[in-house]
Amino acid sequence: MGQPIVFAVVSTKGGVGKTTTAANTGAMFADFGMKVLLVDADIQPALSKYFKIAERAPEGLTAVIMRGGNIQPDCISRLERPNMDIVVSDTVDDTLQAWLATREDRQFILKRAMRSPYVRETYDVVVIDTQGAVGQLQATAATAADILVSPINPTILSAREFASGTMAMLERLNRMADFNADLRTGDLYALIYGMDRTNDSKNIADRIRSDFRGNHKVRVLETVVPSAVSYRMAATMQLPAYEIDRPPSDKEVTAYDTLHELIWELFPNLKDAHFEDVSVSSEE
Ligand SMILES: Nc1ncnc2c1ncn2[C@@H]1O[C@H](COP(=O)(O)OP(=O)(O)OP(=O)(O)O)[C@@H](O)[C@H]1O
Ligand SMILES: [Mg+2]
Repeated sequence: MGQPIVFAVVSTKGGVGKTTTAANTGAMFADFGMKVLLVDADIQPALSKYFKIAERAPEGLTAVIMRGGNIQPDCISRLERPNMDIVVSDTVDDTLQAWLATREDRQFILKRAMRSPYVRETYDVVVIDTQGAVGQLQATAATAADILVSPINPTILSAREFASGTMAMLERLNRMADFNADLRTGDLYALIYGMDRTNDSKNIADRIRSDFRGNHKVRVLETVVPSAVSYRMAATMQLPAYEIDRPPSDKEVTAYDTLHELIWELFPNLKDAHFEDVSVSSEE
């Protein structure tokens, strides 16, 4: 299949919408007919619990990391949803972070896994979810990725944290890349996330856009994810939000519209890959 697209959701801030974004984009790629591997690189396993697991593998993230990025089928669980597998997060404490800190190749370990023959032969896209903090796992995920999406809630604290936390972390990592290009992190896209109808949110979103206009380290996506209960309800039902919140609807913008817009903005070449088409063709 060649090298899969590696897509990671990062933010040094917690609770901004990372896992929701990883689960929904992952499911949409799969519904487009792509073979998807989710990687739960958060030691608090939220993505691992999002979708129903059909067949749990004996190993997970711990083995992938501790084997130095030598990812094998015994680390990959199968989900009930078609076209989707997952490396579950299976570490109970910060052992992995501490172990990584002792390894000289720590920043490269997940990238090595992404380049392994098994992943290259099996998957079109890998979606990595990370923990909302600074750490070695986040660093190795950011380095493994081609594309980094960072949700920012339109609040002043969240906007500040993006610059002082997420961007600063990536800048530190990329200073290393001056010596070794393999350590360069993926391209960073900021996603304004959890937008409500208040003027305050609108002003902060405008401010985020104007602050980063022309900044070559980040692009603020045009797509905005509104605050909507459907995302939370869908997580409870273990479904992607676009399955329960889609046209026809009285809502101006459904999760179905938003998530398509997000994927199309990031991957314009997927514009013809409507999943209605995929499901129709698979029924033939
Ligand atoms: N668009 C949305 N509108 C309203 N609520 C949302 C939306 N997206 C996610 N949520 C809810 O917000 C909460 C936090 O979302 P999520 O778990 O995706 O964030 P996170 O960044 O992964 O958090 P953590 O740092 O704890 O891993 C969850 O309860 C989720 O269901
Ligand atoms: Mg999360």
